Amino acid sequence: MSLELRRALYNISALADLGQEVTSEKTFSERIQSALYSVMGTFLANKGAIFWLEKGRDKLVRVAHKGLDESGATAAISSAQLVSLRKDEPYLIGVSKDASSQDLPRSLKKALAASDAEVLMPLWVRDEFIGLLVLGRKFSAEAYTSDDFEILKVVAHQIAITLNNHALFMDLSDQVDENRRLYEEMRRIYHDTIQAFAAAIDAKDPYTRNHSQRVAKYSVAIGRELGWDDASIEGIYIAGFLHDVGKLVISNDILNKKETLTDKELRELRRHPTLSYKILSNIKFPWKDVVKMIKHHHEKLDGTGYPAALTTDELSDGVKVLSLADSFDAMTSERSYRTKMDLSHALEELKRCLGTQFDGRIVAAFCRVLEKEIKGELPEPNILPHLDPDFDPSVITGLLEALVSELSG
Ligand SMILES: [Fe+2]
Repeated sequence: MSLELRRALYNISALADLGQEVTSEKTFSERIQSALYSVMGTFLANKGAIFWLEKGRDKLVRVAHKGLDESGATAAISSAQLVSLRKDEPYLIGVSKDASSQDLPRSLKKALAASDAEVLMPLWVRDEFIGLLVLGRKFSAEAYTSDDFEILKVVAHQIAITLNNHALFMDLSDQVDENRRLYEEMRRIYHDTIQAFAAAIDAKDPYTRNHSQRVAKYSVAIGRELGWDDASIEGIYIAGFLHDVGKLVISNDILNKKETLTDKELRELRRHPTLSYKILSNIKFPWKDVVKMIKHHHEKLDGTGYPAALTTDELSDGVKVLSLADSFDAMTSERSYRTKMDLSHALEELKRCLGTQFDGRIVAAFCRVLEKEIKGELPEPNILPHLDPDFDPSVITGLLEALVSELSG
């Protein structure tokens, strides 16, 4: 086999190795370092480095090196000088310098010569300058030949594409971070707006101050106990805040009336879930079933609720949770027409209305979470901080345990 043929075969296998290195599963820095070793092996060069022009920073960064002095790493040259470097043509510097290196920026030439570099290959992808490949002398002390330069052009192209792909990937992850930030910002504004809305609803009736917020928190506590995913938890939180938005349309005289409501007034008050639905149905909520839960939060399992007299099988868990949270807060809060119940009476009431108004599975979850909160087993209690603290924990825990075991029996 002739020497030329052997050399050609060697070069082909070296290029194949490089191809494998730059497309491997390794991290970017491992890939680029392996690529450099592969190139140095091809030319049997004693030193080498790859520099990358970091986008936006206007600075050459050394991303791989072997034996080249750090002082030459980030040569103090402007990107304007770098982009004037020729494409597809290496520069010879150092001992075997050629005439072509005369047009290199002086500062770059000086830095490279000081670091013992022999060959400089600008890396381009189409019309974009990406970085530099630098090689030291050959171990054999032979000069680089025009054949070497042909190989070098192919090698440089592969490395340039690797660097460019990495830059694209970095841009993409910056974009993902920015989108995530914008989404969080949007979510925060969403929540602030919803809370402002809820404050407006509750302000109409001094007796229901913070009612919407409590219903949201109680619903979240029950949802978590039932093992719901984050999106469902967020959905019921929003539904809790907005469930009574229709009350904004109902007259204050009815909302704040101390005496029993007339049939006509009661009919008017009972329009509020439908009014809430009408107000909110044009909003595209990013969470499932928010508007449906709100529309049906006064339905009962036995079909005696409103507005649609739905029965247990037609009611989602979301509706059942919201309805329980709403009723429990109504029971344990002062209202214009009655005083509030203490905690043990409210629990008795839940028990009395099991199967007719409340679903046993949801009541059991509520009792379990309240029991955990009383025992201090939850890091962030959602129900307990809103209850009057004047109850006997052992009595209430006993009641909750009895109710849970009855419901699970
Ligand atoms: Fe309501």
